[in-house]
Amino acid sequence: MFSLMQSYPKIFQLTYLTPLKSNFLHFLNLQQAPRIHFYYKTPAPFRYFAASKMEKKQWQKHFFPLLLTIFFFSTFPYKTSLALQDDYIRQPPGKVVVTPHHRSQSDPQQVHISLVGKDYMRITWITEDKGVPSKVDYGKISGKYNAMAEGEHTSYHYFFYSSGKIHHVTIGPLEPGTTYYYRCGGHGPEFSFKTPPPTFPIEFVVVGDLGQTEWTASTLAHVDSKDYDVFLLPGDLSYADAQQPLWDSFGRLVEPYASRRPWMVTEGNHEIEIFPIIYPHGFQAYNARWLMPYEESGSTSNLYYSFDVAGSHIIMLGSYTDFDENSDQYKWLEADLAKVDREKTPWVIMLLHAPWYNTNSAHKGEGESMRKAMEDLLYEARVDVVFAGHVHAYERFTRIYNKKADPCGPIYITIGDGGNREGLALTFENPPSELSLYREPSFGHGRLRVIDETRAHWSWHRNNDSDAYVADEVWLESLTTSESCWTNTEDRSDDSKVNKDEL
Ligand SMILES: [Fe+2]
Repeated sequence: MFSLMQSYPKIFQLTYLTPLKSNFLHFLNLQQAPRIHFYYKTPAPFRYFAASKMEKKQWQKHFFPLLLTIFFFSTFPYKTSLALQDDYIRQPPGKVVVTPHHRSQSDPQQVHISLVGKDYMRITWITEDKGVPSKVDYGKISGKYNAMAEGEHTSYHYFFYSSGKIHHVTIGPLEPGTTYYYRCGGHGPEFSFKTPPPTFPIEFVVVGDLGQTEWTASTLAHVDSKDYDVFLLPGDLSYADAQQPLWDSFGRLVEPYASRRPWMVTEGNHEIEIFPIIYPHGFQAYNARWLMPYEESGSTSNLYYSFDVAGSHIIMLGSYTDFDENSDQYKWLEADLAKVDREKTPWVIMLLHAPWYNTNSAHKGEGESMRKAMEDLLYEARVDVVFAGHVHAYERFTRIYNKKADPCGPIYITIGDGGNREGLALTFENPPSELSLYREPSFGHGRLRVIDETRAHWSWHRNNDSDAYVADEVWLESLTTSESCWTNTEDRSDDSKVNKDEL
């Protein structure tokens, strides 16, 4: 809790003030320069009144809950957050794509699947009709369901918003590398998915800061143009930013992809949605909608967990929950890493939201306290790769430990360029650090194809109009097979204490 409190001002600023500012401009159509000037000239408590009569009506009719929020926050000195944003120039963001609901009230919507323990899959969907049962019929032949599983359901309220019935049903045991057909709640269309392979090769798609813009649609189309096994998302999903209907819209946008392959996610700052006093703990929508296998991995929070799939141990950390040495997350991570059997899972891959290494001007230093708290654990466990999001650009580093190149440290990759509505983080620091091997502010996605226990191929696919262009690629070697990294650990750790590069 202490570390959360320490970072609270920044979380508060980034989670509420920045998105609220952009929402305010968006909904009041105040994007034109003269009006922005007029808007900012107006003293903070009276900015709402700078809007025209018609615009006020729009707000009151469609965005009344958000209006209250803005009124509350307009008393805060949020010039600081604007200054933070102005440190770098952003490309024009893509338009938000609002995905409507076309099916009946009892039909499933926002269907997505996630891995939950060995050979099991959790099916999650939402119905407006609260009477629909939480059950899934499934089988290996289309239209012939020889198995059925029942599960649980939940729902939540956020100010005046009430969610639909959120169903979670775990099905299995399932055969690996097999296509299954399924129907949710006994209603609506048939869906299908393919289970991951039992062993190598396996292909992960990695996309951070996805959002729901035209760029998001383009990224997902590129992802879908080539087969893969598991989708990994290191935080910032819907960019709903407390506008709960946008969570529904996001669920519908990603359904064609997330109902076909497991989507494993961790939280970013846009998932927090804390509102002081009323919703002090945050993550209400995220935890209800994107339930991950935390209990199965011994975690007590949906905000961090791990799972095994085809020779890979994947760890999802939480940048926005406690991570100091006395925290539950730290103790859980320590225990989780101690349990890893590199014979069974030669690859150890970690995802989190705020990058520990970053040469972009955006979000500089935001992952530093977490790095200081946890980097030793990763290093000692010989974690192979760490993916982060948050910075809206792509950057690949060499292997690093304690701000210094180290052949036994993880490779760090920032991939926060999925398609968010805030635009790109264009400014990288110069001269570039020798630790940063490739960096580019473009939208795109990554693919990690793990060939065997030793080799994996990483590629970054830039959204280049209608094609996904491979702009960066590299072969990776698992640290499991590096003999030198499992001997003289203490010597190497001492040697790495000198900080040469400030990242
Ligand atoms: Fe973020």
